[in-house]
Amino acid sequence: MWGGRFAEGPAAVMRAINASIPFDKRLWRQDIAGSRAHVAMLADQAIVSQADAAAITDGLNRIAAEYEAGGVPEDMALEDIHMHVEARLAELIGPTAGRLHTARSRNDQVATDFRLWVRDAIDATDEGLAGLQRALLARAEEHAASVMPGFTHLQAAQPVTLGHHLMAYFEMIHRDRGRFEDARARMNECPLGSAALAGTGFPIDREATAEALGFDRPTDNSLDAVSDRDFALEYLFAAAACSLHLSRLAEEFVLWASQPFGFVALSDAWSTGSSIMPQKRNPDAAELVRGHAGRISGCLSALMMTMKGLPLAYSKDMQDDKPPVFDAHDLLALSIAAMTGMVESVTFRTDRMRAAAEAGFSTATDLADWLVREAGLPFREAHHVTGAVVKLAEAEGKALDALTLDQLRAIDGRIDQRVYAALSVDSSVASRKSHGGTAPDQVRQRIAEAKATIGTETDA
Ligand code: ARG
Repeated sequence: MWGGRFAEGPAAVMRAINASIPFDKRLWRQDIAGSRAHVAMLADQAIVSQADAAAITDGLNRIAAEYEAGGVPEDMALEDIHMHVEARLAELIGPTAGRLHTARSRNDQVATDFRLWVRDAIDATDEGLAGLQRALLARAEEHAASVMPGFTHLQAAQPVTLGHHLMAYFEMIHRDRGRFEDARARMNECPLGSAALAGTGFPIDREATAEALGFDRPTDNSLDAVSDRDFALEYLFAAAACSLHLSRLAEEFVLWASQPFGFVALSDAWSTGSSIMPQKRNPDAAELVRGHAGRISGCLSALMMTMKGLPLAYSKDMQDDKPPVFDAHDLLALSIAAMTGMVESVTFRTDRMRAAAEAGFSTATDLADWLVREAGLPFREAHHVTGAVVKLAEAEGKALDALTLDQLRAIDGRIDQRVYAALSVDSSVASRKSHGGTAPDQVRQRIAEAKATIGTETDA
């Protein structure tokens, strides 16, 4: 492509380090879409003839069909997807192909292709996340009143409902979708027409190409447009944040599937056996979702390091922007699909959850609150009295509500029969009716609102 100035071809290693075709062939759809929009605009502006534009468009359509059918042969000397498409076009239609690159550079071309690709990736991710949210909603609705221990420091803290716990993840995914949406809105400006870095002297119509490619508007500074990769960084940050959420849920599934917890049984489809220990059912998919979060965060770090300190405008370092984005996207798509499958099919062992909630003195706060509300104690004093009650229960090996009224009154005479109602895990969760609290009524209300926001009935 630049043969005019060079006497010798590149060294083999130069070719190898320079080539991006092994990975950037994933941009073929976007590259061809960008070229179609560009040549249509060139013809409308009378920069190329209508006949040449028609021949080029026809050739591009044939190349698209070839890629669809299995690809175009790769040649490392042709470096990247842009040159592969252009070279193939020349094979198909002859020298007219050379008119396509008028008023364009690979710098604005790749910036445009990559934005189009990330935009599609965001749309696909959003769809996947909506599916995960529907799965969480369905299971949360089923378990709006199922009691489990809530933890802080992984110590039984207060009883909560499983529906409330699952809806916590619904909220996280809701914010993740918002982050992708924000990134999409900000990146939806078209770099095409920025040319190499300075713009072009040809009378191009940037509004037209922006519109044809579904962008809101053209970018406003050609130097910025060819060297900006914020859109990819924002995408990667949204992906990394989302993967951390999936990883936390995955970790809970790993923990809950372990024998001491026994809160869930993963379905056969989402567990693996061991080749040596016949009793094993390993939560491999959950472990890999947890593991993939590390790799996705690594992709974000990789591109941040690539971009740090690059002078304006384009530098070849920026060709390294694509592998981390492609990797993160593939890893995240798999993680979302696996998590959705696990949420849909897991069996929640609500009997074990309830027993654990009852065993951990998790209604101690309810006793303290009762002493404040019904017996008029200051909270600090109530906390102290409750501590003595827990100590006795522990020594006797009993649950709080298994202590006799005499035993309780020996600790504080202001306690009466009514306290037992406050000590059950069901009355504990039912009492937490504050906005966003764990009471089944609150959880059901949030589920109803959530169904309306994602616009899909769970049983649809
Ligand atoms: N393959 C290149 C990339 O992905 C295309 C842009 C090449 N531009 C250049 N000035 N060499 O970054």
